[in-house]
Amino acid sequence: MEKNKLINEVTISFKDQFLSEPLIVFSPGRINLIGEHTDYNEGFVFPAAIDKGIALAIQKSEVNTSKVFALNKGELYEFALDKINPIKNGDWRNYILGVVAELKVLGKTLSNFNAVFSGNIPGGAGMSSSAALENSFVFGINELFSLGLSKEEMILVSQKAEHNYAGVKCGIMDQYASMFGIEDSALLLDCRTVTSKPYEIDFKDYELMLINTNVKHDLAETAYNDRREVCENVSKLLGVVALRDATKTNLDTIKQDLSEADYQKALYVIEENNRVKKFAEAIEKDDLGTLGNLLFQSHDGLSTQYKVSCTELDFLVTKAQGSSDVIGARMMGGGFGGCTINLVRKSGTEAFKNEVSKQFKEEFGRECSIYDVKLSEGTHLIK
Ligand code: GLA
Repeated sequence: MEKNKLINEVTISFKDQFLSEPLIVFSPGRINLIGEHTDYNEGFVFPAAIDKGIALAIQKSEVNTSKVFALNKGELYEFALDKINPIKNGDWRNYILGVVAELKVLGKTLSNFNAVFSGNIPGGAGMSSSAALENSFVFGINELFSLGLSKEEMILVSQKAEHNYAGVKCGIMDQYASMFGIEDSALLLDCRTVTSKPYEIDFKDYELMLINTNVKHDLAETAYNDRREVCENVSKLLGVVALRDATKTNLDTIKQDLSEADYQKALYVIEENNRVKKFAEAIEKDDLGTLGNLLFQSHDGLSTQYKVSCTELDFLVTKAQGSSDVIGARMMGGGFGGCTINLVRKSGTEAFKNEVSKQFKEEFGRECSIYDVKLSEGTHLIK
């Protein structure tokens, strides 16, 4: 469903249920061109907000509970602001509770609210539907109760909600991209300073295509947190703040103290960080061939060194490598399922789509889904 329709639907549903005029917020999901698992190493990433996201209708309530209706799921959740804890298997509820809880930690006073939200980001696709949801609520609540938070402060609230209520020790990329996205641009984000440079990218005869494996393997969260821990341990051993500060030469000095698996993970992060910088240079030089190669290299590292890929993702990237119409492809996001991002020749898009869908179905007995993306504006109010 497209954005305007989504906005209409939540508005109508809100008015029907709560009989008042809501504030409307749209908060997008994101893609990431390159720089995977580098954000929590204080490194570089290259995300962009997209035209898919969460539409939220929200307004103050006079009663002494808050009510949130997840329109897609047809689920209503009612809670008291003074009794907030993470819920086991709480799903979407935890992101909202997390945002409210983290606002309270900041000493912000809010009163009850009613909300209706709906989204068109495929879940589990690695396109950050959770960051979009967190950002929509923190943005909406900030506006509703005039809390005076800056966007920089809001994304930290969203990130902490994810850490403490969803249990994923994520970096800042998703929340940043969703909040600060700029139309037609990707953002080269320095995750240490949390500042970015927008790049209006012209892929010329090529375009981005996402292919969703439609799988999300179990243990993705645990595996994510484990990798973060490995990176932090290696940094400690190296005596640096984060792997962002390390080179391969540094890493080699402690190679004997690390397992081969941990060595490869840390090396991956160091190399991926360098790839992001090379990617930015290649954009400046209009060097599409290099952009594509860097994507393939990134995938290889994620799969063989960092070990966050899966059979379905590897299959899609191998098919992309074998196609003369695709100049680069890699898995995108946290991994263990979700999408690949592909740079495909415009004239060959249909042929590649058909071919890869057919092959995927033959191999796994299931469909993959294919999306175009439009680089879009970050979280904003709809007037
Ligand atoms: C998830 C996390 C991000 C980032 C990516 C991997 O999307 O939320 O912070 O670490 O994985 O790059």
